[in-house]
Amino acid sequence: MRRLEPRVQAIVDEHLDAMERKGPPADLVADFALPVPSLVICELLGVPYEERREFQERSSRLLDVSLPLPERLAASDELRSYMARLVAGQQADPGEELLGMLIREHGTEVTTDELIGIANLLLIAGHETTSNMLGLGTLALLHHPDQLALVRDDPEAVGPAIEELLRWLSIVHSGTFKIVTEDTEIAGTPIPKGDTVMLSLPAANRDPELLDRPEELDVRRGALGHVAFGHGVHHCLGAPLARMEMRTAFPALFRRFPTLRVASDEEHFRSFNAIFGMESLPVAW
Ligand code: HEM
Repeated sequence: MRRLEPRVQAIVDEHLDAMERKGPPADLVADFALPVPSLVICELLGVPYEERREFQERSSRLLDVSLPLPERLAASDELRSYMARLVAGQQADPGEELLGMLIREHGTEVTTDELIGIANLLLIAGHETTSNMLGLGTLALLHHPDQLALVRDDPEAVGPAIEELLRWLSIVHSGTFKIVTEDTEIAGTPIPKGDTVMLSLPAANRDPELLDRPEELDVRRGALGHVAFGHGVHHCLGAPLARMEMRTAFPALFRRFPTLRVASDEEHFRSFNAIFGMESLPVAW
């Protein structure tokens, strides 16, 4: 992550430069929150960013729980075929990035199917999550200007502020289901081995037993044990990357545009999506 940090900073700056050159208004989602993490994960994996239309629209369709299941499964198949082509290309001529590295160093242990699965999950997870945190987090901070000023001006405040934003926004709304491996009981409810349980990370992160005033955003709270990245063996693999992207992007955005404001009364949230976020966020400065 330390090696990657200067490149993330450069990608953030390039996108802020482009927003500044174009002038207000801008769509914070299309111009900043989506392209920054998307470009980062493409470069990390070795996926050509020019082909982003191939996967950005499909991965958001895959996670849109308002769509009929066959449509979502079709998006999933299309994503897999796209990745199968990329993996085949890398197997023929492994590049320097993560995919090429996996093939060079573990090519004999990992099947082609597994490679496609790993690459697909990283690509979807890499740009469907941090981007929503950047969009929603910006909106949340614009609604709380005193907390925004802390993130902009106090480098010490940024890390804890991001943890509070992760807790308060809890963008992973569904998809975290687990299979019970032994008979157990939770809060008086017996759960037999083999059952499926659906977890609600947003509810856990606003549990009054976890903290006082759970409904309030307060970036001064300090470190808390939130579960926005899940818990246990399946805790988010990309958490250090997501944290570094946010630590870089939020202060840079607010320092570049100190008068940033929402430019429209309409707020375009994703309505039914496994990962909560915004379709667009018109801003001016
Ligand atoms: C702020 C951004 C992010 C949030 C809130 C987030 C959230 C989560 C959550 C809640 C899980 C656990 C799912 C479960 O329990 O089944 C998870 C797993 C995972 N995440 Fe993230 N994630 C973020 C960013 C990323 C990024 C940037 C990547 C990739 C580079 C990534 C890759 C993964 C992977 C591969 C897993 C599966 C881990 C496993 O099952 O062992 N995530 N993430």
